[in-house]
Amino acid sequence: MTTLWRKTWRGLALRIETDEAEESSGAGTGARSLSVGPSDESDTWLRFHPFSAAPYWCISSTGSESDVETRPLDERGDPVAECIAILEADVSPLIERATGQSENVAARETADVAVLLAAERALRHRPAVLDELDPVALRNRRSEKWHTYPSDVLPVWVAEMDFPIAAPIQDELRRFVESGDVGYPIGLRETGLPDVFCERMREGFSWSPDPARVEILSEVVQGMYVALEAFSEPGQGIAVQTPIYPPFLGSIRDTGRELIDNPMLLGDAGMTFDLDGLASTVTPGTRMLLFCNPHNPSGRVYRRDELERLAEIAVENDLVVVSDEIHGDLLFDGRTHIPLATVGPEIARRTITLTSASKAFNIPGLRTAIAHFGDPALQRRFNTVLPRHARGGIGLFGLYATMAAWRWAQPWLNEVVPYLAENRVFAERALAERIPEIGFIQPEATYLAWLDCRALDLRPSPSAHFLQHGRVALSEGRAFGEAWAGFARLNLATSRPILAEAIDRMSKALGR
Ligand SMILES: Cc1ncc(COP(=O)(O)O)c(C=O)c1O
Repeated sequence: MTTLWRKTWRGLALRIETDEAEESSGAGTGARSLSVGPSDESDTWLRFHPFSAAPYWCISSTGSESDVETRPLDERGDPVAECIAILEADVSPLIERATGQSENVAARETADVAVLLAAERALRHRPAVLDELDPVALRNRRSEKWHTYPSDVLPVWVAEMDFPIAAPIQDELRRFVESGDVGYPIGLRETGLPDVFCERMREGFSWSPDPARVEILSEVVQGMYVALEAFSEPGQGIAVQTPIYPPFLGSIRDTGRELIDNPMLLGDAGMTFDLDGLASTVTPGTRMLLFCNPHNPSGRVYRRDELERLAEIAVENDLVVVSDEIHGDLLFDGRTHIPLATVGPEIARRTITLTSASKAFNIPGLRTAIAHFGDPALQRRFNTVLPRHARGGIGLFGLYATMAAWRWAQPWLNEVVPYLAENRVFAERALAERIPEIGFIQPEATYLAWLDCRALDLRPSPSAHFLQHGRVALSEGRAFGEAWAGFARLNLATSRPILAEAIDRMSKALGR
């Protein structure tokens, strides 16, 4: 039995261990049990086996191997949730029953809630599979990344990860499938997703948004389109930092607005934001800023002083800001994401924050996103332009997978982000060795690398050349802005062997 996690809770020791009984009975790898005992771990008073074929828990008698009582856990529902609920209710009588005497269980404190949540996360976690991906299984995927090109092409383009999704998300989806629970979702608000979003923002980014100011959308890009319709008129200017995630440009074009380009600056230190350029480019006819932080494709993260200057410019020019923060969970080297709405009350009031669990937790196919409005008037206007039913419904899978991700899948992300950070170093080194002409712009966030291929002078474009001659699909630079045709975007979210193969194919495409 290996102890995977331990913490003190209400003066008791909580331990998560590999569940030997379950492992030997063939219940599968990753079966874990949760036990509760005295703080010196000299005994076990309660034991929970939520991953058993017939989940159960027991009260154990002190000093003996025998159980006083064994009770089933709800096997059809969510046995892990039930374990936690049992502990959240009054644990004192259970301990008393195990020890046969009145035990001193410490009084509840605020911090206890966080410990139980951590226990729940550890219980639901199974190690992420990152380095050993099966190329055949990936080829059989029907997602856009793997299904767009012929099977001899290695896709490293659209922002999907190749890793299997986190265990708590898998388990949540499996519960719906196995029980045929695919009826109508209850009201969007009643699912609890707005509260889970707000809790996640508080915990991760010290931001306390208001659940009442949350709308649930099917996608972040939908939020961009509706916001453009709601807060600007055809012909009005929309400021954007190119190169930029292509739907920023598509939404401006499709809604007949005018692109006000504030290109990123490319220097020896990689790409930086041109805030002075933004101040001088914005005209009285500019109504909005479509903002992307962390920035796709450069992977740059705005510093607080940069955000403050940006906020000043937005306030001075009376801009409504759509802040796409979908990559906010994917920061490297100890950086922390700063939501634009936390920079000050004035910018908060004019900001619509768009985000989702789809990038960091790799569930873009489940189509669920969040819009948060810094002001009720913005939210009313948004809902008037496209009421909820016109926006379309949100599926159960997306709603519950998003909640599972934000509530429980952080331990998975804690394994994925360092792996991505290593991939970034690996790709930079491999490219420097094999194709030194490519300028590698090190991302500070996201799993995307923006490659400056101009020195190679590839026609008709770098990505077209790599596709045709190397059978490797990168994202086309021009899609991120006309001026960026000499660039290509490489998706790093795959196993290192597959990443190595992608770089090998790029090199071979150049006859090396
Ligand atoms: C910056 C940015 N925004 C939005 C999206 C897409 O989000 P959704 O699928 O929710 O529209 C992506 C996907 O890569 C992205 O990089």
